[in-house]
Amino acid sequence: MSLSTTLETPQTGKYEQPTGLFINGEFTKGVEGKTFESINPSTEKPIVAVHEATEKDVDVAVSAARKAFEGEWRKVTPEQRSKYLFKLADLFDQNLDLLAAIESLDNGKAFAMAKVDIGMCAGCLRYYGGWADKITGKVIDTNSETFSYTRQEPIGVCGQIIPWNFPLLMWAWKIGPVVATGNTVVLKSAEQTPLGALYAAKLVKEAGFPPGVINVISGFGKTAGAAISAHMDIDKVAFTGSTVVGRQIMKAAAGSNLKKVTLELGGKSPNIVFDDANIEDAISWVNFGIYFNHGQCCCAGSRIYVQEGIYDKFIEAFKKRAAANKVGDPFASDTFQGPQVSQLQFDRIMGYIDAGRKEGAKVEIGGERQGDKGYFIQPTIFSNVSEDMKIMQEEIFGPVCSIAKFKTEEDAIRVGNSTTYGLAAAVHTQNLNTAIRVSNELRAGTVWVNAYNLLHHQLPFGGYKESGIGRELGEAALANYTQTKTVSIRLGGALFG
Ligand code: NAI
Ligand code: MG
Repeated sequence: MSLSTTLETPQTGKYEQPTGLFINGEFTKGVEGKTFESINPSTEKPIVAVHEATEKDVDVAVSAARKAFEGEWRKVTPEQRSKYLFKLADLFDQNLDLLAAIESLDNGKAFAMAKVDIGMCAGCLRYYGGWADKITGKVIDTNSETFSYTRQEPIGVCGQIIPWNFPLLMWAWKIGPVVATGNTVVLKSAEQTPLGALYAAKLVKEAGFPPGVINVISGFGKTAGAAISAHMDIDKVAFTGSTVVGRQIMKAAAGSNLKKVTLELGGKSPNIVFDDANIEDAISWVNFGIYFNHGQCCCAGSRIYVQEGIYDKFIEAFKKRAAANKVGDPFASDTFQGPQVSQLQFDRIMGYIDAGRKEGAKVEIGGERQGDKGYFIQPTIFSNVSEDMKIMQEEIFGPVCSIAKFKTEEDAIRVGNSTTYGLAAAVHTQNLNTAIRVSNELRAGTVWVNAYNLLHHQLPFGGYKESGIGRELGEAALANYTQTKTVSIRLGGALFG
């Protein structure tokens, strides 16, 4: 099989899609010659086959990354690292429509939303380009006979495993900080969405990065992903995906070379609406909080708690709002919600809807497949839910939410914190004191007030509790990819005393 194929998108026409593994600055076939197909979730038909990385290819990619790390990349100045990232960011901007169209084709996300994703990718890469030459240590004064300082050094070869829900945004969130801090990387895309990552790899080459600094491979979790997390020559692994796999990655790291681990995992985020909220605004944000990206967001506001004074009014208006979300062809200009990414995800979500019904929750709207082709699911709202129900505790990762009533601020805080997750939360109120008090009490890495999903590359993002370890984005992400070295120089004086 060749290393690229001509494909076509309804928005951008024909383009050349790379299909090889991007290792040491070149697209190549896998050692074992395997391939797998990527599916278009809108049609359920294969788009194209890509080359598959197995354990052996992970070895080849890690060797390339190691060689680059020990060799040429070490000598590259921080200023030059900035320039590479700026160039890559510019290339994302220049190819914005095409990259967005590839995302819509491979993942099913609405094209208008995908364009926002790509703009955010460019912003993120540029932001970390800005950090590359601002990574500094400290001089620490202990006594007059010693001169001590710290350096923030790169960790080495990093493995990065990303999911399919924001294929290119997760690519950019990972690549920006790893490269800014002087590491090299082997990144594995999700098997459902390999295409954008490969096109971005082509842009890496165009940006002029030295070979081996950024390696991008397509492959499955159980083979290529597992090989990354257990690899003896990978110094750090960063993962975004399910909590189940996050645990496996930590175990593999512990059982191999104790590589450093950061995890960005699932969530079951509460969206809390007080009686005094601006109800129309709150409904818009609650709708966006759960249905954006078809509910396939780690921070999706899937548990909606509304104070009893406005509950009846809220639920009627919210049902109308959610039912009006346009579900359909991701390339249609008015589409808000495309298909779920895969048959497996579709089945999982329908399984949760079933579980909700069986446990006695009431379907207020939706609850069914939409159409007969593609993995489309109607926006779904459950009421009559209790905290112990499966649909209130487990991440559904689809266009499905539950709505419940609360009485007091204490109740809202208690139910808000009542899962094992702690990724995000939101509070809707016009009272500043309520907003701050409740935000302080919620055990979540991000709290939005009178808003939802306001992610920005300057703001740290990550989980409390079982939602993860470490923070991505912002200055905080630099800590994932640097280690502190202390250097102490003895200036003179007696050995002791
Ligand atoms: P997953 O956690 O299996 O997949 C995410 C990534 O991990 C993919 O690149 C996959 O190839 C890789 N992977 C899978 N098994 C691995 C292993 N043993 N070792 C190393 N890497 C491995 O998630 P999946 O099955 O695609 O989705 C299942 C659920 O996970 C979703 O329903 C959702 O609840 C959650 N999820 C959360 C995401 C987030 O953004 N936090 C993103 C994707 C899924
Ligand atoms: Mg696909």
